[in-house]
Amino acid sequence: MPSNAAPSPDHRRPGPACIFVIFGASGDLTKRKLIPALFNLRCLGLLPEHFAVIGVAITPGDDASFREQMTADIRQFATHPVDPAEWQAFLAGCYYISGDFNDEAVFGALKEKIAAVQQERRIEGQNVVFNLAVTPTLFGTVAGQLGAAGLLQETPDGFRRVIIEKPFGRDLDTARELNNQLHGVLRESQIYRIDHYLGKETVQNIMVFRFANMIFEPNWNRRYVDSVQITVAERLGVENRGGYLDHYGVLRDMVQNHMLSVLSLIAMEPPGSISGDAVRNEKVKVLDAIRTLQPEDVIENCVRGQYGAGVIDGQQVPAYRDEPSVDPRSPTETYAALRLFVENWRWADVPFYLRTGKRLAKHLTQVVIRFKRTPLMLFGEKVHSEAGPNALILNIQPEESITIMIRAKKPGPSIVVDSIPLDFDYRQFGKQSPATGYETLLHDCMIGDMTLFHREDSVDASWRIVNPILDVWGALPPRDFPDYEAGSWGPAAADKLLLRDGRQWENPA
Ligand SMILES: NC(=O)c1ccc[n+]([C@@H]2O[C@H](COP(=O)([O-])OP(=O)(O)OC[C@H]3O[C@@H](n4cnc5c(N)ncnc54)[C@H](OP(=O)(O)O)[C@@H]3O)[C@@H](O)[C@H]2O)c1
Repeated sequence: MPSNAAPSPDHRRPGPACIFVIFGASGDLTKRKLIPALFNLRCLGLLPEHFAVIGVAITPGDDASFREQMTADIRQFATHPVDPAEWQAFLAGCYYISGDFNDEAVFGALKEKIAAVQQERRIEGQNVVFNLAVTPTLFGTVAGQLGAAGLLQETPDGFRRVIIEKPFGRDLDTARELNNQLHGVLRESQIYRIDHYLGKETVQNIMVFRFANMIFEPNWNRRYVDSVQITVAERLGVENRGGYLDHYGVLRDMVQNHMLSVLSLIAMEPPGSISGDAVRNEKVKVLDAIRTLQPEDVIENCVRGQYGAGVIDGQQVPAYRDEPSVDPRSPTETYAALRLFVENWRWADVPFYLRTGKRLAKHLTQVVIRFKRTPLMLFGEKVHSEAGPNALILNIQPEESITIMIRAKKPGPSIVVDSIPLDFDYRQFGKQSPATGYETLLHDCMIGDMTLFHREDSVDASWRIVNPILDVWGALPPRDFPDYEAGSWGPAAADKLLLRDGRQWENPA
């Protein structure tokens, strides 16, 4: 049986001894995600025995105050009850230095701290991960300072890896500028562009589902698939991220990265192996095959929206423009729907409908593969249209499940065909430990598996898809915002986008 499994690192074991440096150690991402995820890895036996965290931020402090703060935060953000002995053991390996990232002295101090911690924790080798949990405007500054301090130099004795968070730029030009800055001091193989969506079980399961089963792949093409829908719906509004969202909008925040990434997993060709580059090569080919939108295509195939006031869970909620830190005349979209085509032999003419929005009717991330009707309506046209065609539904959150909608005869003397779900719920499959979504990704970085991280060319390709939409939307400010009510399924124009094709959005009850 041919197998190309060899190059993949071992995901069941900890990586080599290393130091994990967090820039932005007093920030939201650190306390909500990074520290709970690292602690979970420790509890799962997936942190190296010789391991340490060094936090860096502008807030004055030292190792003791950092540990104190972390202890207060973990009570709030841990995904399990915290075992005090495990926590104390983890905490003993946590250190802190304070300073402004614009000040090169901080990086000299960091170099000394790394050397001291290596000694104290008996960390052999020179492996260091630098996690940039900072505002994107500081990515270039921090990377540049690390480079100038000689901290990014890899040796046979140790890797130097840098994790960065989206957004990877604001558009194609700024994304390229950022990549150029990073490449001034780093090789591409040292850059881990994180997408926490790709850390989710069901997203990872898309590849297993497609490529470890024989029954789906033969149908996975334009001959049998009618259309694909990808929905990322949120009930939440802007929360405390009004300033950020108003500057970016959901097209940049959700579509450019998470949604195009999910689309490429759905549409990619089988890779030759599951090594990082084999998978990433196939994913980028999908993005490259997406038809570049001309301005008239944007008007025809893309819908934006912004929520007005409404009711969610029986509570009145304000309009987007009345949210804190949002411009009261903001033209920023809180909803986007796109109709895209992947122009290759497998997918030509199959529409991929993507939609995302805030303050929608449900919190839901879902992929629906709608299959074509059978060629002959043996049981009559009415029966066929009432039962609806087959569909495969991949629920990514909040439920992690897979449903196949099939047709079956209702028990009884006459032939009545109905649509029934065949369900697979992840919870029935095995006990899953609650997680932040970062565990897999941080562990992958430590063991050097880049499969789930964005590569430079995929960032570039996804901006190429999104940029023409930004250009048209920027040139034609919206005249009808707000155009959907909080708690609804989005603007009427998004429904029309599908109705025109004789289809409709899959809106679960
Ligand atoms: N929060 C999340 O859940 C989340 C989710 C996905 C992606 N992200 C991304 O993660 C990154 C960080 O987000 P965040 O929410 O954690 O931001 P945040 O709460 O504003 O934290 C920023 C951190 O950077 C530090 N900092 C800022 N300027 C500095 C400077 N000049 N020198 C030294 N330290 C400086 C701050 O230190 P002080 O506190 O000491 O000032 C703080 O520790 C962003 O790129 C964001 O888009 C965040």
